[in-house]
Amino acid sequence: MGKPSTKWRIPGLGAEPLCRRSTMKRPLKILLLGKGGQVGWELQRSLAPLGELIALDFDSTEHCGDFTNLPGLAATVRNVQPDIIVNAAAHTAVDKAESEPELARTINALAPAILAEEAQRIGAWLVHYSTDYVFDGSGDQPWKESDTPAPLSVYGQTKLEGEQLIAAHCAKHLILRTSWVYAARGGNFAKTMLKLAKERDSLTVIDDQIGAPTGAELLADVTAHAIRGVLQQPEKAGLYHLVAGGEASWHRYAQFVFEQAQQAGLMLKTTMAAPVPTSAYPTAAKRPLNSRLDTSKLQSAFALSLPNWQQGVARMLTETI
Ligand SMILES: NC(=O)c1ccc[n+]([C@@H]2O[C@H](COP(=O)([O-])OP(=O)(O)OC[C@H]3O[C@@H](n4cnc5c(N)ncnc54)[C@H](OP(=O)(O)O)[C@@H]3O)[C@@H](O)[C@H]2O)c1
Repeated sequence: MGKPSTKWRIPGLGAEPLCRRSTMKRPLKILLLGKGGQVGWELQRSLAPLGELIALDFDSTEHCGDFTNLPGLAATVRNVQPDIIVNAAAHTAVDKAESEPELARTINALAPAILAEEAQRIGAWLVHYSTDYVFDGSGDQPWKESDTPAPLSVYGQTKLEGEQLIAAHCAKHLILRTSWVYAARGGNFAKTMLKLAKERDSLTVIDDQIGAPTGAELLADVTAHAIRGVLQQPEKAGLYHLVAGGEASWHRYAQFVFEQAQQAGLMLKTTMAAPVPTSAYPTAAKRPLNSRLDTSKLQSAFALSLPNWQQGVARMLTETI
């Protein structure tokens, strides 16, 4: 059999020819890590139609999914031999990370680096999530992928290091930076606001941090779409910003939640929160004020149109209230 045509190869990566994908008999094998998190849970749904899904959490028994066990994680990739690794696990407790920086670094940077090395060794794709917290939040323009990161917190620093290690060790990577993630399952900002609005006569909510509330469902669906995209066009590997359309402050977000709840007939004691600056709520980790992310690179690369944040939040509320 002759050597496959180079036109099917990722330039300079020595990657497997794409034609193998289109002719191979076995389905794609996908290894999902962090299956129990907000995004991981939705990925279990969105990735299932792509192939055989092996989904793990930190306490999985068949294979190691614990990000503090680096040799165990490497062994998992070697044993599973996936075509695609999707990493939804992370140390996301932003304030706690300030007092446990080594643990945060292990989970957010060193473990993803192991996944990257192992993925590169077997020619697999690595899909990973990062955050608006890699930026310092200055200015009022949406951050582009080409802007210089300058994290304000341990969480942001460790997530940035994770991005850099992945880019250095694995050519076939997709890193998706997102912000203000919520999901219908488990607790979220909207549910907390509704609980407080039912109990209290007055509420204060921060109005000087601006971002885009982004649903785990949207992240999972776009991830599956982007995976299909890079399997067809591997040169689209790289770093992308992925958030819902539009922008809001936490205060505007809360007001939208109250409006939706009222329309649904929910009885609230408070329907107007007082806007306050970030300084009213001191936290261990500093948050960026400007968390706007420019998604034009992603939308154009993968022919996507990202819906406004209100659409996803309204949908989540109809499912939960
Ligand atoms: N949440 C946000 O607002 C936000 C914003 C920007 C970017 N992101 C990024 O988006 C991605 C998904 O976040 P998410 O919102 O889905 O976070 P999440 O709900 O906190 O999920 C993270 C998952 O990682 C797991 N995990 C923690 N320590 C682990 C360990 N040692 N080994 C294996 N798994 C471990 C968690 O398990 P336990 O729950 O059992 O600890 C959880 O299932 C992350 O990369 C995050 O950095 C999130």
